[in-house]
Amino acid sequence: MHKTLLTALLLTAPASAQPAPYLDPSLPAERRVADLLGRMTLEEKVGQLAQIDVLRLMGQGEWDRGPLNPEWMENVLARQHVGSLLSGGGNAPVPNTPAAWARMTNDLQRYAIEHSRLKIPILYGVDAVHGHNNVVGATIFPHNLGLGATFDPPLARRIGEVTARALRATGITWNFSPDADLGRDPRWGRFYETWGEDPLLASSMVAENVRGQQGDTLGPNAVAATLKHFAGYGAPIGGKDRADARLTDAELRAVHLPPFQAGLAAGVAAVMVNSGSVNGVPGHASGKLLTDVLRKNLGFTGVTISDWEDVTRLQTVYKVAPTYRDAVRLALTAGVDVSMVPHDARGFTGAVLDLVRAGEVPVSRIDEAAGRVLNLKFRLGLFERPYVDPAGAEAAVTAGRDLALRAARESVTLLATDGRTLPLGKTVKNVLVVGERARDPRSQLGGWTVGWQGLPEGESTRAITVLDGMKAVVPPGTSLAYSPTVPAKPSVDTLVVVVGEPPHAEGEADNPGLALPDTDLALLRAAVATGKPVVAVLLAGRPLVLPENVRTRLAALVMAYLPGSEGGRAIADVLYGNTNPSGRLPFTWPRSATQVPGTYDEPFPGGTPLYPFGYGLSYTTFSYSGLRATGDSITVNVTNIGKVAGAHTVLAFARPAGAASPLKLAAFGRVVLGPGEARNVSLSLPRGLFPAGGAEIRVGALQTTTEQP
Ligand code: NOJ
Repeated sequence: MHKTLLTALLLTAPASAQPAPYLDPSLPAERRVADLLGRMTLEEKVGQLAQIDVLRLMGQGEWDRGPLNPEWMENVLARQHVGSLLSGGGNAPVPNTPAAWARMTNDLQRYAIEHSRLKIPILYGVDAVHGHNNVVGATIFPHNLGLGATFDPPLARRIGEVTARALRATGITWNFSPDADLGRDPRWGRFYETWGEDPLLASSMVAENVRGQQGDTLGPNAVAATLKHFAGYGAPIGGKDRADARLTDAELRAVHLPPFQAGLAAGVAAVMVNSGSVNGVPGHASGKLLTDVLRKNLGFTGVTISDWEDVTRLQTVYKVAPTYRDAVRLALTAGVDVSMVPHDARGFTGAVLDLVRAGEVPVSRIDEAAGRVLNLKFRLGLFERPYVDPAGAEAAVTAGRDLALRAARESVTLLATDGRTLPLGKTVKNVLVVGERARDPRSQLGGWTVGWQGLPEGESTRAITVLDGMKAVVPPGTSLAYSPTVPAKPSVDTLVVVVGEPPHAEGEADNPGLALPDTDLALLRAAVATGKPVVAVLLAGRPLVLPENVRTRLAALVMAYLPGSEGGRAIADVLYGNTNPSGRLPFTWPRSATQVPGTYDEPFPGGTPLYPFGYGLSYTTFSYSGLRATGDSITVNVTNIGKVAGAHTVLAFARPAGAASPLKLAAFGRVVLGPGEARNVSLSLPRGLFPAGGAEIRVGALQTTTEQP
């Protein structure tokens, strides 16, 4: 008896002394993947290709956010070996606190590892598209459109870093962000998720944001970033979410692919597929886009993930597959690695297994896709550090408020001013703030905030409203009052009317007429009818069309985009002159919806826009001199000739010499100058810009402003 036991120990000793290569963190990820794949059953590998929404594991019913349900965890994680989970917008634990998120992901991770023969951890994904935005109380950064207005890529990087740290502190390792779609049609409900209409601006912001989120090595404070939605999603016909986009290959290459290319060059870990279609071909069935372009031309080696339920939609919506099984085959063959299923694990894994067993999908395709997922898990260090300390979650999720404030301040764009009213507090002493949106944070936060469609009514989160912000900075000797409506005879010097759009996301946010809601318009009409100077502040995810007889009677117009949790303070700082506005439009502002889709870099439909791409005023004046082009860069001397300090973005536009085509942004750079201060700003131009016959380069704004050189 004793002897037998001893023998058994001797036999097992070498195995336990030498961990399997896939468990050895000193080995390169590729080695570990090959070793692990070699040990996995087909079922285990297929599980890595499925992603299930956490609601499927909670409570008693599909939409019940109750506690994690052991029976369903067993089905999904133990039986179907599902390799990743997500929280779709708003699918949060109860209570929705940072620590509860950390405990939830820990519990799921522990269950997955303990019920996995090979101890494979899960990836957990969310849409943290402006901070860790599903969590109540999280720092909410401006949506990307506002960040586009900052023309400040290092800022996008810092925001990426802070967001990644917050995610990782709650056990989340995969972020479905940044959006790399181009905002080519402001009617589209996802316009505000883009960085605007320009490929160079979007590329610069996307690349830096990816670098911020992932760090150099996907270390313990980093997450896997995802470029979405590949490709051509940003130009749906009629600005209708998920409508077909009609794009030539040349347009795709010149306009829509550059931000993806920039994100790929920055080393992005994942790419999400376009839920819409291009020229009638749904993104999820497009071998051309997902394999020829993404893999072969652009050299992507990471994970592609489907969008929500989009494999099913190949059958049910696009009708390019007669059965679900066919839809799964189409998607896998086109190049989708992971399917965000998101409710039915067994249906999906069953279909994949069936296809492999029938020889319709080769095992090598499964190995390839599962290998990419596992590679990510190794690189994220999940085999070594699968859990987080819930005690650290709160601090990380609420960090970065200064950064959010800076971002909002840099984004606010002054579109019109009578030169007298703003900044407030000088000649204007008594101010009345008008409108519900001034004291309700939902509009400034926008969609994807706690709830998918924005902060649910009645839910509170930490945010500084415009009214809060103004109260905080109102100078001594002046007064500030508030009214939800416009009084008949206001006894103040000026009205600040806060209007905009209610929060929405995706198709629900489509706005075919670029219209301001009726109630908001009525407020503005009533305000200008008082005869008092009116400052209009817009909280909106797109250019809105204001009727001429309202707009031209405003004393000032301020575009604040969807500025996030510190937005109210940033707006107040601009209104009272503590911050000199420096935001510049990352899109073309049309006079009416008949001018859309009209972008600055294409022949413009019907006359001139109201405000061109890059437009934005300042409380000071910048003058340019000494423009020099030197090889691949240009230098210009910028002087602040006004009386207050300010930041200024230099925009350089170019076109081939002698060409009649519209100018395109070729370079940009931000400079901060005190009054009277001058600086040389050097901008590098894209290499080989118009090598054949030289280029015409113009520095300054696209239409008359004081900055024209
Ligand atoms: C659908 C959206 O299109 C996509 O952007 C998002 O990442 C997924 N849902 C997951 O929430």
